Amino acid sequence: MTRLVMISGGARGLGAAITARCLADGHRVSVGLRQPERLAQAFPDADPAQLRGFRFDAHEPATAQAWVDTTVAEMGAPDALINNAGILKMVDFSRGTEPDLDDLWTVNTKAPFLLIRAALPHLKASGQGRVVSIASTDAKRYRDPSASLGYVMTKGALLAMTQAVRFQGWDEGLRGTAICPGAIDTDMIADVPGVTPKDKRLQPADVAEIVAMVLALPNQASLPELVVNTRLETFI
Ligand SMILES: NC(=O)c1ccc[n+]([C@@H]2O[C@H](COP(=O)([O-])OP(=O)(O)OC[C@H]3O[C@@H](n4cnc5c(N)ncnc54)[C@H](OP(=O)(O)O)[C@@H]3O)[C@@H](O)[C@H]2O)c1
Repeated sequence: MTRLVMISGGARGLGAAITARCLADGHRVSVGLRQPERLAQAFPDADPAQLRGFRFDAHEPATAQAWVDTTVAEMGAPDALINNAGILKMVDFSRGTEPDLDDLWTVNTKAPFLLIRAALPHLKASGQGRVVSIASTDAKRYRDPSASLGYVMTKGALLAMTQAVRFQGWDEGLRGTAICPGAIDTDMIADVPGVTPKDKRLQPADVAEIVAMVLALPNQASLPELVVNTRLETFI
């Protein structure tokens, strides 16, 4: 089936690759982003009937409900929500500030929570609703002190929240999937020490391929989580 898919941060990095893949697969896409005018720059040839951008800023909680409501009013009820927008800041017991930690919770965890809550009635009404959250291998384990503990905590919470989605509407066909990729070659990790070397990172299109598969599967093929390794580790 083709869907109306909401994608947060869908004009840049991994989000842009997911948007491109959804368009290629025939889905209609509502992108939530801080500067909606950037969407046309990223997708200058897109058909406005298939792709629209609406304002969504994780630091302005009211924009979560507003993005859902405007999508419904202008494009129809969504069948899928992709929680893609996220940030990485270095926070642990000796690095980073409390405001940095608050930012991580706000963007990586609280915003997806508010979006799921706002979209839930529509996703349940769809009969085949999907929530796909881009978590991280850092949601699965604490690897070593080169990681941001703040990021690890917020992505772990996103994983738990996405698992809980399935209990909100299983009988109505709602399914939730947390995708837990290792390093992806985007701006996010361009200057981060200790990450997987550039030539061994996932490409955004590789992860978009996995999102496409999750969107294509029927209700009886539910994938609670998918871990995508870029390096050999013992427990994931
Ligand atoms: N890169 C990796 O190695 C990696 C690995 C595993 C998981 N992930 C996850 O993949 C997702 C996409 O990351 P990426 O690698 O594509 O990073 P990126 O290139 O830095 O893109 C981050 C995206 O998040 C959006 N965003 C940031 N702050 C926001 C806010 N306050 N409100 C709304 N949107 C906001 C950005 O929108 P603007 O254009 O407005 O800035 C952008 O679209 C994130 O959740 C990230 O944690 C990344």
